[in-house]
Amino acid sequence: MRADLALVGFGNVGRRFATLIDERRTRLRTDFDLDVRIVGISTGRHGATWNASGVDAATAVACAEQGRSLATLHPFDAPADSVDLIARLGRTPGGLRVVIETTVLDIHAGRPAIDHVRAAIAAGCHVATANKGPAAFAFAELRDLARAAGVSFLFEGAVMDGVPIFNLVRENLPAADIIGFRGVVNSTTNHILSALEDGDEFAPALARMQQLGIAEADPSLDVDGWDAAAKTSALANVMMDARMTPRMVKRTGLDEGSAGRARRAMAEGRRLRLVASATRTADGTIDASVEPVELPAGDLLAGLRGQANALVLATDLVGEIAICQLDGSLTQTAYALLSDLVTIRKRAASAAPLR
Ligand SMILES: NC(=O)c1ccc[n+]([C@@H]2O[C@H](COP(=O)([O-])OP(=O)(O)OC[C@H]3O[C@@H](n4cnc5c(N)ncnc54)[C@H](OP(=O)(O)O)[C@@H]3O)[C@@H](O)[C@H]2O)c1
Repeated sequence: MRADLALVGFGNVGRRFATLIDERRTRLRTDFDLDVRIVGISTGRHGATWNASGVDAATAVACAEQGRSLATLHPFDAPADSVDLIARLGRTPGGLRVVIETTVLDIHAGRPAIDHVRAAIAAGCHVATANKGPAAFAFAELRDLARAAGVSFLFEGAVMDGVPIFNLVRENLPAADIIGFRGVVNSTTNHILSALEDGDEFAPALARMQQLGIAEADPSLDVDGWDAAAKTSALANVMMDARMTPRMVKRTGLDEGSAGRARRAMAEGRRLRLVASATRTADGTIDASVEPVELPAGDLLAGLRGQANALVLATDLVGEIAICQLDGSLTQTAYALLSDLVTIRKRAASAAPLR
């Protein structure tokens, strides 16, 4: 079966996804009967391109890395913007039509990713995104729109890169309820806390994370807990039907005082970690928070150092389940999108009801 893809966003993740598709092309064909073709790409400031016969991924990546506009690739037929690109994909005949959304996260409202997901669904296209915004701000609405349109809305890469957390719950815990979770889900702050325990001061530890490309250029999204709050909101919305936004997550980040607190905790046999958690309260509402917590040294989350992340799910039927990620990478995030693509293919093969 042919799958035509439109890539909305072509930064680190979008480009790695494009090359990964090329690397796994044979495997996708033999294992899943999936013949993948990128037919269009759009960016924010670096133009857009369209070729119904297929855009060459390597050429597009080289163009983007040289800072040239993608519109130069097929100049007479370049889409005006992402909305135009998605509409064109919607008019493509036959096969699977999938929008791969990898634009930057807007922590205030989840735009423009939410608009791209809505446009994809309205055009009759499946959509997979690595952006936290849609699940963190508008999960229930987008899920319902996708169901009504008979298309998939998937976002495995939004939390913990390629670790299959949403797949695990959706596919492998049938009829069980998630009654809460707690985890370490932001790599930058975990790196900083590890460095503080090793004797670094806060400002140089943060600067080092930026030099290594681990922290954002504007690291306040990580340090103030916003990234973790967006992930908490997405997890609670998807796994616990929370209907919340990141602003509804109680949030305390790290600050200059964290160094002393991390070292004091360590000296007393505990570890300071930025813990994201959610629980269902007696009245049925969800209580969600992101805050530095001093954990006993034997706690699974206390043992996470550097880029390691972990999530502990509390369930009603199978007790607590933990899933760990020892390090993250762009390839893992790109893989999450590839796994979403395979999920879409499998659903098409089985005509499974869309969830
Ligand atoms: N990097 C990771 O390891 C990682 C891991 C998990 C999840 N994520 C998530 O994945 C997403 C992408 O991350 P990234 O590292 O690839 O970011 P990035 O390198 O900054 O790339 C973002 C891309 O989005 C484009 N863009 C912005 N506004 C757009 C619009 N209106 N229409 C089309 N494209 C638009 C940008 O184009 P211009 O540059 O031309 O403006 C750029 O190509 C983010 O939401 C991030 O949170 C990233």
